[in-house]
Amino acid sequence: MRPLIEQIDKTRLPKHIAIIMDGNGRWAEEKGQERLYGHFHGVESVRNIVEGCAELGVEYLTLYAFSNENWDRPRTEVDGLMALLVDTIRKEVPILNKNNIRMHMIGNMEMLPDSAQKALQEAIALTGHNTGLNLIMALSYSSRWELVNAVKKIGMDVKAGRIDPETIDQNTVEHYLTTSNFPDPELMIRTSGEYRISNFLLYQLAYAELYFTNTRWPDFRKENLYEAIIDFQFRERRFGKTGKQIQKEAHLTS
Ligand code: IPE
Ligand code: IPE
Ligand code: MG
Repeated sequence: MRPLIEQIDKTRLPKHIAIIMDGNGRWAEEKGQERLYGHFHGVESVRNIVEGCAELGVEYLTLYAFSNENWDRPRTEVDGLMALLVDTIRKEVPILNKNNIRMHMIGNMEMLPDSAQKALQEAIALTGHNTGLNLIMALSYSSRWELVNAVKKIGMDVKAGRIDPETIDQNTVEHYLTTSNFPDPELMIRTSGEYRISNFLLYQLAYAELYFTNTRWPDFRKENLYEAIIDFQFRERRFGKTGKQIQKEAHLTS
């Protein structure tokens, strides 16, 4: 068998991959350890997958690291995760710069502890000039929070006379989302055998291909990523049209 990486068609890579990094807690518990031990090991997977995407030439990678709902977890887990976040971001900045990776953040920044806000703002500023992979961290993020905020801002701009409600279309809505600078994900991966979206990019995933794997996040490595991309490349993306139409279009452009 040819190595997986060679089976990937580099001309048809998903431009944007989004990942729900799930299963850290169970991974640890299965080893008789505390849940935080799983989060700690999950960082190694983040490094490996970020590097894998950068090497392949994927343009955007969004990682769902902490949801708005995750604030309801036990205090020790939340505090441990925030400390790990600050520590990891600080350590990773030189590596991001070395690999030409630019960091972004989507989510409710104000909810994060000051130390995490500071570390994030620094990392975003220090990597702002990079032109390779765009790494988008979803932190204290939830899609409904984002949509409610967008509606609120649109309402305020209508009230202030900055936009005419008659002209509101999809472009307007997209402009008010936290992802306004990024294209929609084409491939969404969720690890750990859960088959749900958990309040992640509900609007933006409208036509994403969904890929679910039982592998827990701390075990997820480049080879698993390659498998997901190969699977993606076998899908027929129809966008509402018929298979026949899509095949004809592919024939005309090839
Ligand atoms: C994902 O792993 C990481 C975060 C949500 C922060 P979990 O912590 O959800 O792990 P499981 O799903 O409980 O195994
Ligand atoms: C989704 O995972 C959020 C992140 C991976 C950050 P959860 O573990 O919080 O999702 P549910 O609760 O199983 O749906
Ligand atoms: Mg989980």
